[in-house]
Amino acid sequence: MSRGSTMLALVAAGSLVLTACGGTDTAGPGDGASGTAGGDGEDASQVQVMTWWAQGSEKAGLEALVEVFKEQHPDTEFVNAALAGGGGSQAKQKLQADLQAQNPPDTFQAHAGAELQDYIDAGQIEDVSDLYDEFGLTDVFPETLMKQLTVDDKIYSIPSNVHRSNVTWVNPAVLEEVGIDPATPPADLDAWMADMKKVADAGKIPLSLGMDWTQTQLLENILLSELGAEAYDGLWDGTTDWGGKEVNSALTKFGQIVEWSNKDRDGLDWEPALQLVMEGSAAYNVMGDWAVAAYDAQDMAAGEDFLYWPVPGTDGVFNYLADSFTLPVGAPHPGGTKAWLETISSAEGQLAFNTVKGSIPARTDIDAAKFPEYQQSAMKDFSSDTIVGSLAHGAAAPIAVSTAVNQAVVKFSQGASDVDTLQQELVAATKSLSE
Ligand code: GAL
Repeated sequence: MSRGSTMLALVAAGSLVLTACGGTDTAGPGDGASGTAGGDGEDASQVQVMTWWAQGSEKAGLEALVEVFKEQHPDTEFVNAALAGGGGSQAKQKLQADLQAQNPPDTFQAHAGAELQDYIDAGQIEDVSDLYDEFGLTDVFPETLMKQLTVDDKIYSIPSNVHRSNVTWVNPAVLEEVGIDPATPPADLDAWMADMKKVADAGKIPLSLGMDWTQTQLLENILLSELGAEAYDGLWDGTTDWGGKEVNSALTKFGQIVEWSNKDRDGLDWEPALQLVMEGSAAYNVMGDWAVAAYDAQDMAAGEDFLYWPVPGTDGVFNYLADSFTLPVGAPHPGGTKAWLETISSAEGQLAFNTVKGSIPARTDIDAAKFPEYQQSAMKDFSSDTIVGSLAHGAAAPIAVSTAVNQAVVKFSQGASDVDTLQQELVAATKSLSE
């Protein structure tokens, strides 16, 4: 999409010190002749996999991965524990309850960064450093990402993909109808809002929105656009004041965009909200690049039926999130978990999954030419842009913070608070980050 300075160097993680693998845990997953146990005696008869890739294009992505899994590990049964709800809105709650009841799945989807840290702090996931050695992964992932998975030289999950949060999905026909040139993305948020006003004046929805986390995702990108990457990063380590004037001005603009959006937003997951743009009722939607998979599923073509830009004002910045998979403490089939981790980290698994999912591989050694056009552009950007982390998707702050932000934002979008109250609530929601 765009180019810019690189705040964090994306170099291979070969220099990471890996924890030496203890004991005799050296056999690969699914090695048992009967498929009931790994060669190291660990049960590999099945793997129960908890994700929120349960419907639409996300389900298709998971299915592509499962195909590879079945080829690589024919003796391990894949048990799908996916729970619908974009962004993990339902799955994370169920997971929390299961983990607390010491009833973990064999593996679960967790975002790299602060969200993973939650599970590490709670002692709910195992160090999987030895699997990096076993599967030959020590230098295939970018160092930035490895830092988000590593605590005290222990690595707690294996990434399957990288997504981008700050993408605007555009209906060019709607823009043309109201006299906006779709070929030229607005330079900044103000220019974009001037275009949105034209759409609103013509009786269409400028920007479609969905439920709580989609509103938080819009907010994070408006903050990124208005504050810039450095001050945006400062929101997560206490060096940028959530109570300051710049945040207040960004919230005021956020409020206007929310007001222009569809009134039924709280009842919509991301796909139905995006659908308003696809069908031409709305001009824009801000959504992670899993959206490209939804366009693919409807055979809609980039450049014709839809366009994509970085959120105006965030050109050259890649607001990232990454899905990774874990080995929970007490997983009933740890051999099955290892088999799953091997597939999701393999070049074949990452190619199959990310082609369908709209994401880019977490591995840096897969030829970009093998991917569709959108992923090729995202791979280029991820290697050259400034990288920041998404709040709505666990990279920037713990789940407790994003949940509190979701609540404040929904209250605001429902008209139950004004900009100043929203700001005070965001100060409270993020207080723990600077303590
Ligand atoms: C994110 C997840 C993505 C995608 C998205 C929408 O949290 O990382 O892979 O599933 O939610 O559900």
